[in-house]
Amino acid sequence: MAISRASIDRVIQAADIVGLVGDYVSLKKKGINWEACCPFHEEKTPSFKVNPVKGIYKCFGCGKGGDSISFMMDVDSLSYVEAIRSLARRFNVELEETESDFREEQIKQSEKDSLQIAANFAQEFFVANLHETDEGRSIGLAYFVERGLRPDVIKAFGLGYARDEWDALLQEAEKKQYSRELLEKAGLILINEETHKTYDRFRGRITFPIYNVSGKVIAWGARMLGKDKNQPKYINSPESILFDKSNALYGLYQAKNAVRHADMCYLTEGYMDVIAMHQAGVENTVASSGTSLTEGQIRLIGRFTKNLTLLYDGDKAGIKASLRGIDMILAAGLNVRAVVLPDGHDPDSYAKDYGSEALQVYLKSHIRDFISFKAELAAEESSSDPIKKAELLESILESISLVPDAVRRSIFLAEAARIFRMPEQTLHDSLNLRVFNRNKRSRNPSEQSSPSPLSGQPGDALLVSQVDQKVKLSEAEDLIQELENTLLRNLVLFGEIKIEDEFTVARYILEEVVDLNFQSETTKKVFTEYSDRQKDGHDVSPAYFLHHPEEALKRSVIDLCAGSYQLSHNWAGKYNIVIPEEEDLLAVSLFKVILQLKRNHILAEIRLLESRMNSENEEDDEMVLLIEISRLKKKELEFSEKLGSVINH
Ligand code: CTP
Ligand code: MN
Repeated sequence: MAISRASIDRVIQAADIVGLVGDYVSLKKKGINWEACCPFHEEKTPSFKVNPVKGIYKCFGCGKGGDSISFMMDVDSLSYVEAIRSLARRFNVELEETESDFREEQIKQSEKDSLQIAANFAQEFFVANLHETDEGRSIGLAYFVERGLRPDVIKAFGLGYARDEWDALLQEAEKKQYSRELLEKAGLILINEETHKTYDRFRGRITFPIYNVSGKVIAWGARMLGKDKNQPKYINSPESILFDKSNALYGLYQAKNAVRHADMCYLTEGYMDVIAMHQAGVENTVASSGTSLTEGQIRLIGRFTKNLTLLYDGDKAGIKASLRGIDMILAAGLNVRAVVLPDGHDPDSYAKDYGSEALQVYLKSHIRDFISFKAELAAEESSSDPIKKAELLESILESISLVPDAVRRSIFLAEAARIFRMPEQTLHDSLNLRVFNRNKRSRNPSEQSSPSPLSGQPGDALLVSQVDQKVKLSEAEDLIQELENTLLRNLVLFGEIKIEDEFTVARYILEEVVDLNFQSETTKKVFTEYSDRQKDGHDVSPAYFLHHPEEALKRSVIDLCAGSYQLSHNWAGKYNIVIPEEEDLLAVSLFKVILQLKRNHILAEIRLLESRMNSENEEDDEMVLLIEISRLKKKELEFSEKLGSVINH
């Protein structure tokens, strides 16, 4: 289903970005902007700014920026459409759905919606049972209290109770007109094939809801109470359209802000461990819920942090079983570290026996890099068996070779050499071979076969001079980029301002640059769209481009317009050029920018031709090149002179 552009615009208008961002960080007013420490990276002094007039935010530390839609996408890891829906709910905007061509998608979506409604109902039912029924209080709640859980934590994790009856949930659901089919699809009830009897899946158990990243309950794990050997300790929801096991992580919804803040995430095994860690003040904890990590789950964590710390109970068997999954994490480019708890303890029991502070101290002091952890573990058990030792060494080298960063690879290698008492050089060769082979496999052949315009025939002397040329050309290109950015900024922000009579900044810029070939795709797109929209009498206000429907383009525009002019000032110093300040918007300074842009295009062209002269390409006629170069140089001189007279004006 598609959302109409008009209603998206209404959402953008209604979304109060200061209020929205203020839910996640504490904002302070500074001039027209609001400031805070960035929610997307760790920092002590605020470089995250929100501009309520433009409706945008930008962090000058990490570079993240966008509008209210982008903010929801970043902060809650939502898709574009999910972000709009979430904003619409929050700011009470009714969304118009336009007819979608994809009937199937529509059916799936509405089925998902109704499943979600059933799941919400069940979640409320379990929570109400825990607090509002005698059975719930005396059995379920008493159990949580006995295990030391605080009321706020019980609430934050939505813990509940399923009564010990065959169909308590079913009966209540039927009163509210939920169909059996729907309840079955949501995994809440079971139908006996033979007797056709229908009954609740969760009975006489405490319930641990599993939330998706945006905070909706999509499944449950339900723990038995007491010690019936004939029953599984936990019963979990089956997969459904709502619950895709391999892409859900227990506790992530409650942990995500802390994960982002600490830029690190602990991974444990169980529901109770996550809750105990949270209660002990270590809120950046999630659980794989008893299964091994999937790639989807790793990707999910990777959206919030690149640093994963595995928490292990003190038993060796558990550790070894999980070692295989580690390579997957390394290959995903995440950093893996590990903490092993003392024998017989999991985070829950440790916190209960020694207290929150002791747990925090323990975690901090026992954290270690995963490769040395793995190497040591392997070395310990194989010290007496040379064949086993060789195999383990192989597997460690394989793990190290997966680490994308070369410096970190060599640190791990030194560590492995120390632990295995092997000469580092021996391991080094073997590692490099693996890395080389892997890179060869993944290298993109098309990239190799398209040389840059500057790479000529091989030959050492030639290469040196070409490097020089290349530096100069790339400098011209950087400068062009900076000037293009300046023009774009002026066009978007001040395009509608009149310089004289009916003559606008936009008209001035657009007329001057018609024959210019822009370097960046963003500039090209914005300039073309600006002039097209203007011709058709459409909206070309700053708001249109700062909230452009194309998310990627919008972000580039905001990046350029949110405006730290630091870069410009550096350029100004280095190349003695003038880049107008936002308020310094005279036709004359724009004129300078345009002249500089044109001049640098010519310079870049000259550099290119010069490098072709040097490369002695047979197809090039040296005479022709020389004539062209001198023509361009003359033109360049004209521009320099014009610029000189403008600057000395
Ligand atoms: N698990 C499961 N089914 C089981 C046993 C375990 O799904 N029959 C999963 C659950 O996600 C559980 C995790 O594996 O949280 C770890 O198991 P365990 O350590 O036995 O459970 P805890 O969460 O530690 O529960 P408790 O502390 O109450 O024993
Ligand atoms: Mn436990």
